[in-house]
Amino acid sequence: MDLRGVRHLAIIMDGNGRWAEARGQIRSRGHRAGVDAVREVVTECARAHLPWLTLYALSTENFRQRPSLEVHTLMALLRRFMINERPTLMENAVRLVTAGRLHELPPRVLAEIRRTEALTANNRGTTLCLALNYGGRGELVDAAQAIAREARAGRLNPEDIDEAALAQRMYCPSMPDVDLLIRTAGDLRVSNFLLWQISYAEIFVTSMCWPDVRRPLLEEAFGEYARRDRRFGGVQGGGAAS
Ligand code: FPP
Repeated sequence: MDLRGVRHLAIIMDGNGRWAEARGQIRSRGHRAGVDAVREVVTECARAHLPWLTLYALSTENFRQRPSLEVHTLMALLRRFMINERPTLMENAVRLVTAGRLHELPPRVLAEIRRTEALTANNRGTTLCLALNYGGRGELVDAAQAIAREARAGRLNPEDIDEAALAQRMYCPSMPDVDLLIRTAGDLRVSNFLLWQISYAEIFVTSMCWPDVRRPLLEEAFGEYARRDRRFGGVQGGGAAS
C-alpha cells in the first residue's frame, strides 16, 4: 500500500451502531465488528510503514454519556483487544501509546493497556495511538494546567510559553501533526478530536461505516490526499508569489 506521503493518519471510527442496526443486530455487534476493522487497518498501516496512526476509540463524551451496558461492552472489547492482539502488534513491530484521561478507566482494563504499552515500547514500526476517554478540549485544559503549575513553581516564564511549549504538554508530546484525518459514517464534524494536532490536516469523509473499512478505503483516502494542495497558509503549489 502506497501511503502517498502521509506520515500521521488519524481516524474517527464512526458508525458501529448504524452498521449493526442496518443488519437488525444490537449495537454491541457493531463494536465487535469494529474491532476486526481495527485489527486489519493497524496491520495494513504497519506493513506500509506508516509512522503514526491515531484511532479515536472512545471520547470523553462517549464514556460519560453512553448507556452503562454499552460502555461496559466497549471496555470488555478493549481489554480483550489488549490481550489478544499482543502477538500481532509484536509481529508487525507496532508500538502502542495512548492519549486521554486513562486514569478514569476501570483498573482491570487500564492494567492490560499498560502491559501492552510496556511490551511494545521498544518496537520501531508504526506508533499506534489509541485515544481513550479522550477530548481535544480536555487535552488543552490539561496542558494549560500543567503549564500554570510550572509557572507557579517558578520553572517557566510566561514569556516562554509558545506553541512548542504547549505542544510538549499534550498527552503524546512526540505525536506529529496529523496529515490526513479520515471520518467514517458520513458526518461532517471533528467531534472534539485532536483539536491542536489537526490544524492543517486534510479531511476525508466516507459514508462507509467503520466495521466495513478495509485496505481499499485507505488506498482511496491516500490517493485523495495526494491530489490535495497543502498550502499551510501559503500560496498554491508552495512557491513564491509572483
Ligand atoms: C462509533 O460508533 C464508535 C465508537 C464509539 C467506539 C469505537 C470502538 C471500536 C471500533 C471498537 C473497540 C476499539 C478497540 C481499539 C478495541 P457509534 O457507536 O457512535 O456508531 P453510530 O454513530 O452509528 O451510533
